[in-house]
Amino acid sequence: PSNSRHEVVDSYVATHLITPNKALEHAVENSTKRGLPMIAVSPVQGKFTSLLASLSSTRNLLEIGTLGGYSTIWFAQALKGQGKVTSIEIDQSRRDIAVENLQFGGFKPKDVDVILGAGLDVLPRLANEIKQGKREPFDFIFIDADWENQWNYFDFGVKLSAGKGSVVYVDNAVRNLVESDIDQSGSLESGKDGLVAKVGRDDRVDAVVMQTVGGKDYDGFLLAVVK
Ligand code: DHB
Ligand code: MG
Repeated sequence: PSNSRHEVVDSYVATHLITPNKALEHAVENSTKRGLPMIAVSPVQGKFTSLLASLSSTRNLLEIGTLGGYSTIWFAQALKGQGKVTSIEIDQSRRDIAVENLQFGGFKPKDVDVILGAGLDVLPRLANEIKQGKREPFDFIFIDADWENQWNYFDFGVKLSAGKGSVVYVDNAVRNLVESDIDQSGSLESGKDGLVAKVGRDDRVDAVVMQTVGGKDYDGFLLAVVK
């Protein structure tokens, strides 16, 4: 259930801290018109994740789950032409809409590459290209795709990362945790061995989960930094 106070604060923040932006507005309008589900990141979350990318001086950003390219545009803008966003989308029509939205925003293939394919098919290919020196590793990995594969994407994210200081961000981590991993009785010990438990045993990273509220209700993200 949505909470009107959270929505009001979210839109207040957006009004004062987010400069109106034609590319993002068009992406929302066109994605709605073309019938995409309204599950992209919110404007405030888009700004937050793009600030994180700036904060970590990201040059090569990998996104898993493009949808209509809304978050992709946020990231491409954060890189200011000094880097590249590589985004993976499994659905042909979603990819088409994302490419339309990116073209409207003036982004070129050298700025953003939307690869059509399933994450678990494309990621091993990217790993090979990095191994062969044909592609630079990624210093920011944004995972916003099917929940079933979150751990697999996370594991690839760390493998495809540039190493120490690289960031892996998993969207919707709390929804997943609450809906399936934490035992309904509230007993944390008997919870499922999900993403958060696996990341906790992963010596390659330091991580935390932040719960969030906003226009998109209660959820949260997992943020990991490669050691
Ligand atoms: C939903 C939200 C998301 O951010 C997402 O990636 C998938 C689904 C949702 O609200 O259902
Ligand atoms: Mg999401």
